[in-house]
Amino acid sequence: MPALTALTRAVSPRLAECELTFIGRQPIDYAAAVHQHTHYQQLLRDLGVKVIELPAEDRCPDSCFLEDTALVLDEVAIITRPGSEARRREVSGVVPAIVEYRNVLQIDAPGTLEGGDILRMGRNLFVGTSVRSNVQGIEMLGVALQPFGYKVIAVPMQGALHLKSVCTALDDHTLLADLRHLDPAAFPEYRLVQVPPDESPAANVLRVNGTVCIHAGFHKTIDLLQSQGYELSTINISEFLKAEAGLTCMSILFDASAS
Ligand code: GLY
Repeated sequence: MPALTALTRAVSPRLAECELTFIGRQPIDYAAAVHQHTHYQQLLRDLGVKVIELPAEDRCPDSCFLEDTALVLDEVAIITRPGSEARRREVSGVVPAIVEYRNVLQIDAPGTLEGGDILRMGRNLFVGTSVRSNVQGIEMLGVALQPFGYKVIAVPMQGALHLKSVCTALDDHTLLADLRHLDPAAFPEYRLVQVPPDESPAANVLRVNGTVCIHAGFHKTIDLLQSQGYELSTINISEFLKAEAGLTCMSILFDASAS
């Protein structure tokens, strides 16, 4: 198994001013968020990942959710153009770290794309047509990655921020999803596990070296996945859930030895 590296970014002191689209604002405890972020980084290390932390961009409340700024594949990286104008300022702080490892290509206007919308399953990249990623951005991604043998498949979705807010991989053949936001016909080749309806955000799990990481409060989903034999690690990310984010948002995982 290749050694994975995770880029992470420190939590902005302005996290409580984060962008919110489909959920209401609740108080966020910054000190608790920093603590949870440290635990997240340690969980990755415990699972064999080398963790790099970039400095926070204090003007950008959402900057710890750096997954949205770049897609790093073995052959190349794509620097995104976030659909949230407020979040476009985050990109410049991430690019210098990415160019140390990969040649980069860029999504340009009028395209918009956020990494939270990109679900990679082998050489297939499923991309949500969300409030943040538009048709032009998805088409640009397809053109950029066609020479590398990746297929980009647009997935219509509704009522959630990103595709990976409601659909992530449990293994190479299985997706955990809230199918109220997606048409299952988008994934004909995969087994779909429906997340318990009252735990919709649990559909954002982070798969690391065979372990499925999940927020510790999603008890029904934890029971469901344990009953199906998945190896789980639980972690409390309550403050980031209030920021309409999840486990995948807080890192960019890649094989630093590739390319
Ligand atoms: N707060 C996460 C986002 O809106 O991008």
